[in-house]
Amino acid sequence: MAKPKKRYVCQACGSVSHRWQGQCADCAEWNTLVEDAPATVFSMKHHLSSGGRAVQFVDLDKPGELPRRQPTGLAEFDRALGGGLVPGSAILLGGDPGIGKSTLLLQAAALIAREGHGVVYVSGEEASAQVRMRAARLGLSDAPVKLAAATGVRDILTTLGTMDTPKLMVVDSIQTMHSDTIEGAPGTVSQVRGCAFELIRYAKENGVALVLVGHVTKDGSIAGPRVLEHMVDVVMSFEGERSHQYRILRALKNRFGAVDEIGVFSMAGEGLEEVDNPSMLFLSGRDEPMAGSAVFPAIEGTRPVLVEIQALIVRLQSGATPRRAVVGWDNGRLAMLLAVLESRCGLNFSSAEVYLNVAGGYRLSDPAADLAVAAALISAMTDKPLPPRSVWLGEVSLAGEIRPVAHGSLRLREAAKLGFDCGFGPSDVTGGSSALRYDGLGQLANLVDRIIGNP
Ligand code: TYD
Ligand code: MG
Repeated sequence: MAKPKKRYVCQACGSVSHRWQGQCADCAEWNTLVEDAPATVFSMKHHLSSGGRAVQFVDLDKPGELPRRQPTGLAEFDRALGGGLVPGSAILLGGDPGIGKSTLLLQAAALIAREGHGVVYVSGEEASAQVRMRAARLGLSDAPVKLAAATGVRDILTTLGTMDTPKLMVVDSIQTMHSDTIEGAPGTVSQVRGCAFELIRYAKENGVALVLVGHVTKDGSIAGPRVLEHMVDVVMSFEGERSHQYRILRALKNRFGAVDEIGVFSMAGEGLEEVDNPSMLFLSGRDEPMAGSAVFPAIEGTRPVLVEIQALIVRLQSGATPRRAVVGWDNGRLAMLLAVLESRCGLNFSSAEVYLNVAGGYRLSDPAADLAVAAALISAMTDKPLPPRSVWLGEVSLAGEIRPVAHGSLRLREAAKLGFDCGFGPSDVTGGSSALRYDGLGQLANLVDRIIGNP
């Protein structure tokens, strides 16, 4: 038999290469390649068509037996989940360190336990005393949550086998878990994958809702193997700027629901509070219009959220390379928009530093925000404020056209309800609101004329 080839697995992104390299060819991280056990290869002669056990097939419409969702008691969490926890499902919750993942899960765990359901909280990051201190601070010490500080998956699953099956199990975090049947330190690709596999299998076999906390890498993706995201049913991210109080819980993948609803929380002294009407949170609340600021009417699931975009342009005297810094929006998208403004509208940003900020720690990914960003940039560039109480929506193409967006008229109606009285965007938005004057722009160049021509 041929000698199995050596494999090296990147511990940051999970990509496989057959040669050791200092830098991963896929994610460009340094010193992350580690030799992995060679995969077992079955010979082609070895047929798999006999000797197995019979598999049960069922009809799609088999009555009964459908799992009922378990509400968490945090309506915003349930909203992001698509209506509560599904028994036997696995949820992966990622987010920056210190953003509030453990706080969120402890609160949800305590509320479910208070309803009389079994809840197990396994912390591999903090000692039990630390978690109990947090519970005391949150006023949740009375909740009958079963708390353990453990990292050995075998110990955890053996112990669970001896007690009543819980409804919810939280594992904080998957990167701290280890299994003695797998080689490697906790946090390595094979350990994370193996531990997640065992925990998910336990959850599926016993109808337990499992929440795994996952660390994130510098660029915000969940650390460890990419396959982790395929193994779980729901991937959620908890976002926000640590210096701001607002936190957004977003489903990035959900096998049981839509991924467009978000949960909004505010981090206070006594833990996370739910925000059920987030529409005006991400506005600065100032009355005077200011150059460089534009409001974008975002829609998150079924709720409108108005978001303020702020731009600052600093002209450089020397020939130094100008900086571009972005908070809350995509860097590449800003570069594209600047290029379109330069080549289609004749504006020159080449000797200017450009700073872009989405207020309140909100993170925008909707392409419909392009026009609001462009308006903020042009307004900052020309030092002219945009019309007061105006909203901006539209996707900008490379040709400089302002393209239609999803839910255009709904966004305008919601903005009108919240006191905005003019809107700018693509030419073909109809059915807005009579309370709001709408101006279709067609081309980005028209916007520049408007702002520059607007005294
Ligand atoms: P934590 O849940 O430990 O974050 P993560 O698990 O995502 O790393 O939250 C840590 C931060 O939350 C910490 O910096 C303090 C803040 N916090 C509050 O502001 N109020 C509170 O009641 C709690 C428990 C935490
Ligand atoms: Mg934590």
